Amino acid sequence: MNSLANKRILLGVTGGIAAYKSAELTRLLRRAGAEVRVVMTAAAADFITPLTLQALSGQPVYSRWDEAGAAMGHIELARWADRVLVAPATADTLARLAQGRADDLLSALCLATTAPLYLAPAMNQAMWRHAATRDNVETLRSRGVRLLGPAEGEQACGDTGPGRMLEPEALLAALSASFESGALAGLKVLVTAGPTREAIDPVRFMGNRSSGKMGYAVAAAAAEAGARVQLVSGPVALPCPPRVERVMVESAAEMLDAVLERVADTDIFVAAAAVADYRPQAAAADKIKKTVQPLTLRLEPAPDILATVSRLPQRPFCVGFAAETADLERHARKKRLAKSLDLVAANRVGRGLGFEADDNELHLFWEGGDARLARAPKPRLARLLIEHIAARYRAGLAHPPQGDDHADHTA
Ligand code: C5P
Repeated sequence: MNSLANKRILLGVTGGIAAYKSAELTRLLRRAGAEVRVVMTAAAADFITPLTLQALSGQPVYSRWDEAGAAMGHIELARWADRVLVAPATADTLARLAQGRADDLLSALCLATTAPLYLAPAMNQAMWRHAATRDNVETLRSRGVRLLGPAEGEQACGDTGPGRMLEPEALLAALSASFESGALAGLKVLVTAGPTREAIDPVRFMGNRSSGKMGYAVAAAAAEAGARVQLVSGPVALPCPPRVERVMVESAAEMLDAVLERVADTDIFVAAAAVADYRPQAAAADKIKKTVQPLTLRLEPAPDILATVSRLPQRPFCVGFAAETADLERHARKKRLAKSLDLVAANRVGRGLGFEADDNELHLFWEGGDARLARAPKPRLARLLIEHIAARYRAGLAHPPQGDDHADHTA
């Protein structure tokens, strides 16, 4: 269970006796590979020191507006999060969130974020049972807020009943499960990612700026969605995502071989690699010596991996990317038809988006439809893309294309 790796968790801590458990929760989240940023209310600081949570999260702890402004603005922090978890969430916190208040940093963040919001209530049993709290919980639930707990049992005040905060291990498990959609359960997904390197001579190559981040995020999201994932990766410095089987390659030819070896056993193929379009016709056997003369390299087209796969008689569901600097929609639609793709994910490159960037935005096109995925960190965007892929894949199974309309197009 490590679907929390590289996930961004915004942990809100409010003023209840269970706040001491937030320290353990922070530690567990970090150990599971999550990035954690803690926001405390003023009352929380009466129960646990910001220094403790700062040390455990490895990040500054936010509690006042000015602090959020100094390190990361409150809207930026709200956007940063993949999940917001308020633990403990006091009766007062539930009331404030139900009202949509924004007069302290944590409630403003909860209002500003589009990430799923989880609350772990912790309060005296009579407060939990009170009609006012019942109403607030109902209101929050109706807006899609998820409540984790409370548990029943002995309370700090001596009462027994519902109102204990769930244990940190249970909160960790719930957050982890929230990233596991199961949308691709039982399916086999093959992903290409990163650049390729085309040898010029034994020490030099032609390459490109692809970081592999988007492809790796797609592989990670597919694994979270329950797929068995194989990743064929060009040279990048990224760690292999959890539960993904990776093979590293260098050139377009090696990538093609690695893909063809695996594709027969694949339900969905996602080509996110920035494969070289051209490669030197022949790599020099020895290092090319420097002279004062101009040097001409003769290039030939490199194999188009995606087009090759999409032309196979028993092809998987094929997804391609289209990185464009202009006229995105027209080029993407053309590419979808030219390469016979089931789905194309188009993105603009340049202006801080695309290669090497942490954020991206995508416009998806498929037969008879399209969808825009707004600018977001690549891991979040990849999860949305996987949801669309799963939906299109299942729709295709329900209504397979008539005739052989995939084979008519050539790249
Ligand atoms: O480079 P191009 O815009 O044609 O890339 C579109 C899609 O085709 C991408 O998904 C890319 O991974 C794939 N591609 C490939 N092999 C190539 C070139 C591109 O698989 N040689």
